[in-house]
Amino acid sequence: MAEFTLPKNSKVKAKGKVHKATGDAKRIKTFKVYRYDPDTGENPRYDTFEINLDECGPMVLDALIKMKAEQDSSLTFRRSCREGICGSCSMNIDGRNGLACTTAIEDVKGEVKITPLPAMDVIKDLVPDFTHFYAQYSSIKPWMQTVSPPPSGKERLQSPDDRAKLDGLYECILCACCSTSCPSYWWNADKFLGPAILLQAYRWLADSRDEMTGERLDQLEDPFRLYRCHTIMNCANTCPKGLNPAKAIAEIKKMEAERIL
Ligand code: SF4
Ligand code: SF4
Ligand code: FES
Repeated sequence: MAEFTLPKNSKVKAKGKVHKATGDAKRIKTFKVYRYDPDTGENPRYDTFEINLDECGPMVLDALIKMKAEQDSSLTFRRSCREGICGSCSMNIDGRNGLACTTAIEDVKGEVKITPLPAMDVIKDLVPDFTHFYAQYSSIKPWMQTVSPPPSGKERLQSPDDRAKLDGLYECILCACCSTSCPSYWWNADKFLGPAILLQAYRWLADSRDEMTGERLDQLEDPFRLYRCHTIMNCANTCPKGLNPAKAIAEIKKMEAERIL
């Protein structure tokens, strides 16, 4: 049965710490950052960090790195490329899922509230647990599957038109911003694959070199795995790479329908 309130130990209760900007900062931006440390046994809290914008890079990730380097080294978040390529720094910024490294501080009016991606268990601070998400990714067998040998004996070539069918799909960085903004995924993440994984599934269905189309469609044809998408479109509105998972899901549904006609 669905639970409509947070478990007691997830409610934000504790009073947060305040980290003031140092020196004679003139341009200060205030960040409210979600903090949770399972080792303390305490409930989550919001800490306040004042950042001197004259000594900080332009992106939200720059501010987080500055907080960790100068104000609280225990602040925990993921990041790697700082170029919008690796997908590590996905989080909720000012109520919207996105990448901290490609979100400009100046684009957020007033105080910047930062929380982990919604609807995922939190390991610590801004770090969600991706275990289930990756298990779902693994379930769609995200690699090329073939039975016949490559015609040339070497590579499996594609025409430019077939290669173009992968545009809008291969760019996905598996940041999970879309899945964690999808109401259907919030309620049924145990069974519904969610927009990110379904976009990845379609990436292999659309690949002219893959020879397991029928098996892939069989695996997806399920009231929950695929059909829990109700075309609410949050996923397409959220994707920081400008991709459209809802369209990919619609294409899978079309392929499923066409094969029974
Ligand atoms: S279109 Fe489908 S997958 Fe995307 S947010 Fe809506 S229900 Fe979720
Ligand atoms: S489709 Fe976009 S939002 Fe979803 S995982 Fe891929 S890159 Fe992230
Ligand atoms: S740090 Fe890699 S996407 Fe932000």
